[in-house]
Amino acid sequence: MLTVENINVYYGAIHAIRDVSLKVNEGEIVSLIGANGAGKTSILRTISGLNKLRSGKITLFDKVLYDTKEKKNMFGKTKSISAGVPPHKVVELGIGHVPEGRRVFPYMSVKENLLMGAYVRKDKNLEKEFENVFQKFPRLKERINQSAGTLSGGEQQMLAMGRALMNHPKLLLMDEPSMGLAPMLVEEIFNIIKEINKSGTTILLVEQNAHLALSIANRGYVIETGEIILEGVAKDVAENPDVRKAYLGE
Ligand SMILES: Nc1ncnc2c1ncn2[C@@H]1O[C@H](COP(=O)(O)OP(=O)(O)OP(=O)(O)O)[C@@H](O)[C@H]1O
Ligand SMILES: [Mg+2]
Repeated sequence: MLTVENINVYYGAIHAIRDVSLKVNEGEIVSLIGANGAGKTSILRTISGLNKLRSGKITLFDKVLYDTKEKKNMFGKTKSISAGVPPHKVVELGIGHVPEGRRVFPYMSVKENLLMGAYVRKDKNLEKEFENVFQKFPRLKERINQSAGTLSGGEQQMLAMGRALMNHPKLLLMDEPSMGLAPMLVEEIFNIIKEINKSGTTILLVEQNAHLALSIANRGYVIETGEIILEGVAKDVAENPDVRKAYLGE
């Protein structure tokens, strides 16, 4: 479904992502784990078109999103070396992004935030989408007219997820959904992630909470200072002695 091949991303002189390759197959939950500053967010943002790709290739559903070697993106040839595409085009292709830190629109209501998630949809038949979101997050329904900035952290996480679901994504990129949440809420959020996956959405999950992220994943990747240092079936990654020591506090 998603293939990332040898991508490199720079911030000025900083080489943040180094020759990273990864794959997400249809139906999977794939977890990308790593410490602070390892490059997890940068990878998700690059897939979404929010960061420029210095070199490498990203393919989604057999469609080349970016290919710097061929200097082309999904629209054809590009003069610029970065071969980027506008993020809204990536959304249209069926990628949803639940960003780090939720990034809800604080002065808009819950309903307006959800509508923003459906912004690129050609059909505006959103009844079913609202129903689906409210079934997963009943709390959002209760707070439909409340401004998003006044929601609790957990509710804002639910809203950020609901907003992405409004576009009915085929692939959902999730950046640290557990960040800053109490353990009970984290469990609730992770159960919903599993549910979203079961109902047909493929998931690429970025987490510092390695234990939890690997426990719900089919496969896992470990990233350290911009490089993938380990990959495999989630259970094997979780049992790897170096991973246990570095990320699982053992
Ligand atoms: N906009 C930016 N400008 C300059 N450097 C950046 C920028 N964004 C990220 N970086 C650097 O790139 C590296 C990777 O950052 P990134 O945010 O991708 O890491 P992360 O794994 O998501 O970390 P965290 O777990 O803290 O969210 C870090 O060294 C960071 O300082
Ligand atoms: Mg991050």
